[in-house]
Amino acid sequence: MIEDIKKEALELIRSAKDSAAVERLRIRFLGRKGEISKILRSLKDLSVKERQTVGPVAQQLKKDIERLIQEKTAVFSKSIQQGLPGIDITMPGKKIKIGYLHPLTLIEKEIRGIFKAMNFSVVEGPEVETEYYNFDALNIPKNHPARDMWDTFWLQNSQQLTSDKEQLTKGQESKVKGQMLLRTHTSPVQIRYMETHKPPFQIIVPGRVFRYEATDASHEINFYQIEGLMVGKTVTLANFKFVIQEFFKRLFRSDIEIRFRPSYFPFVEPGLEVDIRCIKCGGRGCGICKDSGWLEVMGAGMVHPRVFEAAHYNPRDFQGFAFGLGLERMAMIKYNIPDIRLFYSGDLRFIQQF
Ligand code: PHE
Repeated sequence: MIEDIKKEALELIRSAKDSAAVERLRIRFLGRKGEISKILRSLKDLSVKERQTVGPVAQQLKKDIERLIQEKTAVFSKSIQQGLPGIDITMPGKKIKIGYLHPLTLIEKEIRGIFKAMNFSVVEGPEVETEYYNFDALNIPKNHPARDMWDTFWLQNSQQLTSDKEQLTKGQESKVKGQMLLRTHTSPVQIRYMETHKPPFQIIVPGRVFRYEATDASHEINFYQIEGLMVGKTVTLANFKFVIQEFFKRLFRSDIEIRFRPSYFPFVEPGLEVDIRCIKCGGRGCGICKDSGWLEVMGAGMVHPRVFEAAHYNPRDFQGFAFGLGLERMAMIKYNIPDIRLFYSGDLRFIQQF
């Protein structure tokens, strides 16, 4: 009879599926009214001889069951810690939170796509720049008032970057000479790209730029631009007009009226400002366009001969256009965002709308 109980008990405990089942078996066999306890209690009714044979067998069985239960319990608690089977797989799962693409990411992707479809390549450049690429090579010499157009974050020490001057040729040396800075626009990449490529080409340069200025609804110390540059033997402002008209048409999915206004940037001649008809009021005048009916969207112009010279092109051989647009400005117009600071607020209520 003890043998039958033993067989049953060990088998049941071994195949128990969870710790609750093990506990039920512990009560059934070892509990106060359990089967083993009953046998041990009944020993006193047996003869001395019987007691001597049955006693040790029952005691041994009790020990065996105790050990097996202990082992089994350990297995379950371990598997819970490791997240292995043994956890309740019928419990409802935790809801996975889905993220949102930032509106700047969305608009950048879209703009990249539009220009790629017009055969532009996408290139990038460094955010920490030299004075040479950010200013001098772009026809903005030291002490020239034009530098005031870009309030600059200057970096304190450029020693490290210029320490192996001996290994630099004269030309290279002038490019690292001067202070390092956080680029104030993406235009330095015009020079970097032309130094290593021959026309004809057309590129856009998305990237982060920095300005040392007070923030308000339309100014941030950190923002994004997309530079454009197309150079060839016969590239003209008419080509620019077509490209940019096509760009706005695709971005806003409708024909957008644009206009050019004369303007000044040291690295273009002639320089101009591009306006589009106010998206909100269609030109009648509203708060967004400050009753002018137009929205200022980018600076542009024909690449200045001095810029070609800095890149070692002969300005008589090539001509082209360049433009620079603010990504936040585009997103604000397209998604109707009233304040540039919202992009960097980290407020989930803002980003969940896109
Ligand atoms: N780099 C200019 C700016 O940041 C924009 C620009 C780019 C103007 C290219 C003309 C041509 O203000």
